Amino acid sequence: MNIQQLNRIGQYTSFAHLLLHNLIISDFLFAGDLRIISTTQENKGRLEIYHNGEWGTVCDDGFENVDAAVACKQLGYCSGVAVAPSAVHHGVATIWLDDVNCNGSESKLLNCPSNDGNHNCQHTEDIGIHCFLSCSTENNGNLRLIGGATNNEGRLEVNFYGEWGTVCNMQNTGSALVACRQLGYCSGVQLPSEAVNASYGTAWLQNVRCSGTEEGFVNCSSVFNPTTCAQPYDVGINCTQTCLNAGDINLFGGKNENEGRLEIFLNNAWGTVCDDYFENIDAEVVCRQLGLWGGIVIPAAAVDNGYDTIWLDDVQCKGTENRLTNCSYRGSPVSCNHGEDIGVKCFVNPPTEDQGILRLVGGSSGNNGRLEIKLYNEWGTVCDDSFENVEAAVACRQLGYCSGHVLKSTVVDDGNGTIMLDDVDCLGSEDRLLNCSYDSYTGDCGHQHDIGVYCSFECPKSGTLRLLEGSNKNEGRLEVYIQDTWGTVCVNNFDTIDATIACQQLGYCSGNAVLPNLVNDGTGTIWLAGLLCSGIESRLVNCRQLDSVIQNCRSYHDVGVSCSLNCPSAGKFLHERL
Ligand SMILES: *[C@@H]1O[C@H](CO)[C@@H](O)[C@H](O)[C@H]1NC(C)=O
Ligand SMILES: *[C@@H]1O[C@H](CO)[C@@H](O)[C@H](O)[C@H]1NC(C)=O
Ligand SMILES: *[C@@H]1O[C@H](CO)[C@@H](O)[C@H](O)[C@H]1NC(C)=O
Ligand SMILES: *[C@@H]1O[C@H](CO)[C@@H](O)[C@H](O)[C@H]1NC(C)=O
Ligand SMILES: *[C@@H]1O[C@H](CO)[C@@H](O)[C@H](O)[C@H]1NC(C)=O
Ligand SMILES: *[C@@H]1O[C@H](CO)[C@@H](O)[C@H](O)[C@H]1NC(C)=O
Ligand SMILES: *[C@@H]1O[C@H](CO)[C@@H](O)[C@H](O)[C@H]1NC(C)=O
Repeated sequence: MNIQQLNRIGQYTSFAHLLLHNLIISDFLFAGDLRIISTTQENKGRLEIYHNGEWGTVCDDGFENVDAAVACKQLGYCSGVAVAPSAVHHGVATIWLDDVNCNGSESKLLNCPSNDGNHNCQHTEDIGIHCFLSCSTENNGNLRLIGGATNNEGRLEVNFYGEWGTVCNMQNTGSALVACRQLGYCSGVQLPSEAVNASYGTAWLQNVRCSGTEEGFVNCSSVFNPTTCAQPYDVGINCTQTCLNAGDINLFGGKNENEGRLEIFLNNAWGTVCDDYFENIDAEVVCRQLGLWGGIVIPAAAVDNGYDTIWLDDVQCKGTENRLTNCSYRGSPVSCNHGEDIGVKCFVNPPTEDQGILRLVGGSSGNNGRLEIKLYNEWGTVCDDSFENVEAAVACRQLGYCSGHVLKSTVVDDGNGTIMLDDVDCLGSEDRLLNCSYDSYTGDCGHQHDIGVYCSFECPKSGTLRLLEGSNKNEGRLEVYIQDTWGTVCVNNFDTIDATIACQQLGYCSGNAVLPNLVNDGTGTIWLAGLLCSGIESRLVNCRQLDSVIQNCRSYHDVGVSCSLNCPSAGKFLHERL
């Protein structure tokens, strides 16, 4: 060691201190030396500078790529870029430099103008640097696949400046095609993010978007902004030697390969399909063409918008076609926007002979529990939206019981498979749940809404009454059980005496008819009409009825009643009628 070096160390007060601190613990340190603090890679991390005998940090105020390049060159790299404080671990020691302002020709960061020693920064502003391993651009844009089960799939990595990094958030389906072609395959698709093992390395490119016809991946539109990709957005692809043909379709951006935004390959590029007139029958053709089963429309609002051409509009299939292009449609240009891109959900298995059978899961005994239905050889749950006692009774009858009622989703254990049916709406006379009207698209329902039922072998006696859809349990639409089904009562001629008999039969003491416009009409058979109760009947079905009035009931509402446990002070009106 010579005097010059000792002078450069500068701050040390004694040679003994120098020996202890530096000769033993590390190499010689000089004022202005730099280091990168990182837990992942040595060329990227928090920048630290040795100053006044102590390592400290550099504030991000005014720190740009030109400053990072000076720091990287000082560290022996060819160049580099700045890394925002949010992407590095913060330091704890002194903040040595602020407002660093290099012009690029300096050989040491300390030689650059800066607010030496004074700063108005916090450690949340500690700057990082990312130094390039090589300044040759020869291999920039080279691609490789990493960590896949087979060679043709895995996380997509791209090389820049001698370093392999990832691609963060690839936006469209043409991008995987271009990447796979560059890798020597004929086509390929993006993997769902769950299928990609995350990397914590550099994400060189963000928001890549290829039209599909680019010469190489670097020719696609993208943002070159080396940072770390917020997991799980590292892109993975699955390439194949199978080439695409015009009219090929695929589902993109869904939870799995069986569902997602529908895209069709036409004119050498992927594009989307407009939702106008697109129904389940069209979705069935899609699933058949994909070698899958079923076919449920996922509304445009529930799929991520596509980016490229909208190839098809007004798709109308007969249902027998094997390819979507065999259906009638209107081709591009179409008058739709990407907010109308349709999605489709398919099933992996063909339907079995027992398609639509039911089971009860997780109940306190066999006759109750979460309701599950088997579709396409897969058990799934039913959403509680509009699922009421009428629907529960149909389910229980299908299960071989005579009656049943709803168990609210809050009291049944949540299922975990596919949610098969939503908005189930039965008339009450169906013998299978699948004969009721329902919505197969259940994406707006979660497992916390899985419905349950409680079934019983006991049938209601003919003439049994119930109240439905009231705001309290003592009021609602009046329904009567006759010939093994629940039906309604016609409002014509219905008066307080009839309401009182109904309420007394239900265990109340008095009752009133509810204004017809406050009652939701039922959907089943109208069993009773033109009632003329005398006031002494014990059951509503024992009341006299005006003959043949049920036919006239179409233009009337169903009866609703409001019952009370309070008894009338005197039975005056009853006597009047008597
Ligand atoms: C950069 O700054 C140094 C002094 O810090 C100066 O000597 C040099 O001329 C400057 N170079 C340019 C290109 O401005
Ligand atoms: C992820 O990593 C695991 C274990 O390293 C491996 O078995 C799996 O195939 C990888 N998956 C993908 C999609 O790269
Ligand atoms: C693609 O990008 C490379 C590298 O930037 C460039 O040399 C080439 O000319 C580009 N090709 C096209 C067709 O733009
Ligand atoms: C990649 O595609 C092949 C079929 O082309 C499929 O068998 C394989 O499961 C796919 N890999 C992943 C991870 O999805
Ligand atoms: C679909 O159209 C192709 C020609 O594009 C034809 O060969 C095929 O028979 C058609 N199939 C059906 C089921 O319509
Ligand atoms: C789903 O629930 C069934 C029992 O109801 C259980 O056997 C299975 O492991 C669960 N699957 C998942 C992925 O949780
Ligand atoms: C239920 O639907 C099946 C076919 O889907 C039909 O055969 C049966 O008659 C229907 N039953 C009722 C009560 O609607």
